Amino acid sequence: MEKEVKILDRTFVPFIKEEEIHKRVKQLAEKLNEDLKDSNPIFLAVLSGSFIFAADLVREITIPSQITFVKVSSYRGTQSTGEVREEVSVSENLEGRTIVIVEDIVDSGTTMKHMVELLKTKHPKEIRICSLLVKPGNLRVPLNIDYYAFSIPNDFIVGYGLDYDHQGRNLRDIYVVKD
Ligand code: IMP
Ligand code: MG
Repeated sequence: MEKEVKILDRTFVPFIKEEEIHKRVKQLAEKLNEDLKDSNPIFLAVLSGSFIFAADLVREITIPSQITFVKVSSYRGTQSTGEVREEVSVSENLEGRTIVIVEDIVDSGTTMKHMVELLKTKHPKEIRICSLLVKPGNLRVPLNIDYYAFSIPNDFIVGYGLDYDHQGRNLRDIYVVKD
């Protein structure tokens, strides 16, 4: 049997293997390379959860582009609070730019909706959403997710950048909470 991992009070079991993640990330990058080849996009990685995904994704990007970071928070433990707070704001001039938001997971969609509204005030040419994971069963706001690697059930997951109370981001595979 595959190895379980224990983080704080919960047990997690393997869900998506590293190799499978890398395969899908590569495919996403190929699509972005094609779709945005004349756009000089700015990848805006949402910290902290997307740091590993963003690092893997941009290293497969071959078109002219740049990467920058933003930090918002909205999550406590395994329950979304529905509140978002901007902790590190975007410093770059985004006017007229094609922005690709790089996010770890879209759950209720609250964080992403807040991000999109915030970015619109900076007058970009276009905003696209690229999320490693989506949980369509939890989506509470209308959102068009342009790119995603995996669509998953509502269960809580950890690893490959995603945390459970700040732990488990370093796991190479993605794990799902047991029972
Ligand atoms: P939303 O605002 O409900 O869409 O929540 C989005 C944020 O909650 C994500 O950017 C993650 O940081 C966090 N999140 C949502 N689901 C999970 C999960 O299953 N594991 C770890 N973090 C999660
Ligand atoms: Mg996040």
